[in-house]
Amino acid sequence: MTAFAANLTQGVYIVTILLVIVGIMRLRTPATARSGNLLAAFGMLLALGVTLLYVPLVNWLVMTAMLVLGAGIGTWAARTVKMTAMPQMVALFNGMGGGAAALVALGEALRILLQGAAPPLAVSIPGAFTVLIGAISFAGSMVAFAKLQELIGGRPITFSGQKILHAVLFALLLVAAALAVSGGPLGRETPLIILAVGAAVLGTLVVLPVGGADMPVIISLLNSLTGLAAAATGFVLGNDVLIVAGSLVGASGTILTQLMSRAMNRPISNVLFGAFSSVKQGTDQTVGGEVRATSTEEVATLLAYASRVVIVPGYGLAVARAQQQVRDLMVALEGRGVDVRFGIHPVAGRMPGHMNVLLAEADVPYDRLYEMDAINPEFSRTDVVLVVGANDVTNPAARNNPGSPIYGMPVLEVDRAKVVVVLKRSMAPGFAGIDNPLFLMDQTRMLFGDARTSLTELVTALRDVD
Ligand code: TAP
Repeated sequence: MTAFAANLTQGVYIVTILLVIVGIMRLRTPATARSGNLLAAFGMLLALGVTLLYVPLVNWLVMTAMLVLGAGIGTWAARTVKMTAMPQMVALFNGMGGGAAALVALGEALRILLQGAAPPLAVSIPGAFTVLIGAISFAGSMVAFAKLQELIGGRPITFSGQKILHAVLFALLLVAAALAVSGGPLGRETPLIILAVGAAVLGTLVVLPVGGADMPVIISLLNSLTGLAAAATGFVLGNDVLIVAGSLVGASGTILTQLMSRAMNRPISNVLFGAFSSVKQGTDQTVGGEVRATSTEEVATLLAYASRVVIVPGYGLAVARAQQQVRDLMVALEGRGVDVRFGIHPVAGRMPGHMNVLLAEADVPYDRLYEMDAINPEFSRTDVVLVVGANDVTNPAARNNPGSPIYGMPVLEVDRAKVVVVLKRSMAPGFAGIDNPLFLMDQTRMLFGDARTSLTELVTALRDVD
């Protein structure tokens, strides 16, 4: 590479790094998130372009074919994926990142070794680290994908001695990594390959016992591992963009993991070893009360005469694809002078920010969206809470039933409102598979049916209320 080419490449890499950082900063609010995403993607395209221009030994035909194929699959997947299938798509893409990092590091190490040289420690240590972490992330993400896509059962797979097996395997992998770096009777190639295969086995074993509601936390954790693996690959290849972008992914994935664990009141150790969803509850006999079904007309009247209404969306809103109808209801109520707010739980739906994305798609103004801590003190001053396809995130058992598997999880305290109307199709439980005593409380009315149909009918019925 000429000095000019090297300088140009470094210059473009710095521009990419800045674009990625600014892009991530813009992801902080829905208003700027879209442009932030585009900026970061554009930065990556620049880095990719300049790398292809100047890296020697590039077979242009193969590279172009791969680029077109990858971009084509990515675009098709992003355009066709259903909002409800987003978590598994994130798992799949994340796994690809981890696998790519592991393969690049493995390939680079084997390339140097096959030339008869020993890689310097500055390459072999991050190389072994990348193979270990990248292969764990790849295999773990594939299991997460298969579980969420229901290719394999979503229930936790547990057996006795599981934790000991994980610990022993991890210790053996550390020995393989040390041998891959230092060399020994087996040479360096064999321990490297054992490391890659063993790490993939460990990644599979670690995710198999995780089930149900803990899966997003695991995906976020694997995402941070992929970031670390990419950053380490940057050290192997001497590539600044990989180091910075990988570190950013690693750091943000770690922060997101912590935030989600806190929102579900699940310490990460518990997520990894607790098999939360195996603790399924049957009907909770301690919950008294009866189910009070209501009608669209009754709910329309309640809403029309309310001063303040809080709408709590959940996973059912995404399933019913009722975001536009919920906005229509907001507009109709505001037209009558009702104060309408949305209460957003951090893990409502099936991915971080799920409800924000849906409501933004329907042009619900951001200032109507209240986070859990901001809306909870308001429920006691609220006339009607409309729970639209939400369940676990409103479950009062999390506050007052120490025997509940979700006890301690912060929830939206909707039962403090004067009237609660729940829109769902049946009495079926939500993601955590547990009963919700809210549905049997005196102040609760159940409006059974698909949320989209119920909301459409509500908007029509509101017109008939004087
Ligand atoms: P859930 O507790 O899963 O409840 C969703 C409810 O929506 C169900 O009870 C279902 O009842 C109803 N529903 C489904 N389709 C519907 C439709 N077409 N119309 C009306 N209602 C419909 O949802 P949530 O309250 O949002 O809680 C989220 C749960 O997922 C939590 O347990 C959370 O820990 C977990 N989780 C969160 C994430 C993230 S990061 N957001 C990721 C994975 C898991 P019916 O079947 O009776 O209609």
